[in-house]
Amino acid sequence: MTDRITIPRPDDWHLHLRDGAVLEAVLADTARHFGRAIVMPNLVPPVTSGAAADAYRARILAALPAGSDFTPLMTLYLTEATSADDVRSAANTGIVHAVKLYPAGATTNSEAGVRDIETVYPVLEAMSEIGLPLLVHGEVVDSGVDIFDREAVFLDRVLAPLRARFADLKIVLEHVTTKDGVDFVQCAGPNTAGTITPHHLMINRNALFNKGLRPHFYCLPVAKREHHRLALVEAATGGGEQFFLGTDSAPHPDKDKETACGCAGIYVAPVTMTCLAQVFDDAGKISNLEKFVSLNGPGFYGLPVNDATLTLERCVDPAIFPVSISAGADTITLFDPGVPLHWMVAD
Ligand code: DOR
Ligand code: ZN
Repeated sequence: MTDRITIPRPDDWHLHLRDGAVLEAVLADTARHFGRAIVMPNLVPPVTSGAAADAYRARILAALPAGSDFTPLMTLYLTEATSADDVRSAANTGIVHAVKLYPAGATTNSEAGVRDIETVYPVLEAMSEIGLPLLVHGEVVDSGVDIFDREAVFLDRVLAPLRARFADLKIVLEHVTTKDGVDFVQCAGPNTAGTITPHHLMINRNALFNKGLRPHFYCLPVAKREHHRLALVEAATGGGEQFFLGTDSAPHPDKDKETACGCAGIYVAPVTMTCLAQVFDDAGKISNLEKFVSLNGPGFYGLPVNDATLTLERCVDPAIFPVSISAGADTITLFDPGVPLHWMVAD
């Protein structure tokens, strides 16, 4: 039985760091375990230019704990007003590593996103030439489609035609939540990847309604049925190069989640490595953890694997985490899968 593993320092290929007091509160939790993270641009206002990405990056670097070597990888928020020149000049800064497609209205701060995908085709053409990946929130915005089907319908209506039209464009289907998404990525060839979150590997949709409404398990895309979770576990632990970690750690103050209309997002960063070690160990695949968290992501993005390492150890007593952290006057609740976790990151 493996009790201790040392892997190249992991990266997080999908992260929400926010700004201001929340950024100050959450950044250390990611910087502690991860070498780099793809930072989501859905601030208010969204990060739509290279200059805005550069300014946000400076705020992140200023909030880092002293001595941290964490590197934020910035992204641009795609709007229908984004031009091919905008993405070219953003890519030239060297700090922008991807462009994010939010279907308008699909999720938190997505109103400035894209309504008609064809309006951004010239931008996608330019990205394809540059080799700049497109990160996709894969859900249709259609109240006529059941919320649990919105990912699968997106694959048919939007992503399949996009994939066929822009064969050279690197596309990441983010936070895959369905077997349909897993199958799509696996069949789409090496220019397509999928990120998977720790929480979608650990909970199914029952967790949202377990003896009451559980707002801290609510995120978008929402967790699906158990057979979808099992497909995600197989994809993540299987070692295939097209799947890698994107935590989608999405902190919201508790007051905004524990309310009549609570927002979507799960704060998972601090517990991510412990949860993943447990999932991979339970699947008998702990030896594939480094592919998922440390090797496959850099491979897809054409970046070097981190030189630094991270060690995880099995622990007899279950790992203990705080229920929440403080952010200014607010608290932010951590993801708690509700099962004992017998792995910890070593100091
Ligand atoms: O649950 C989510 N929260 N899904 C998203 O797509 C956005 C994120 C957020 O920004 O809070
Ligand atoms: Zn996200």
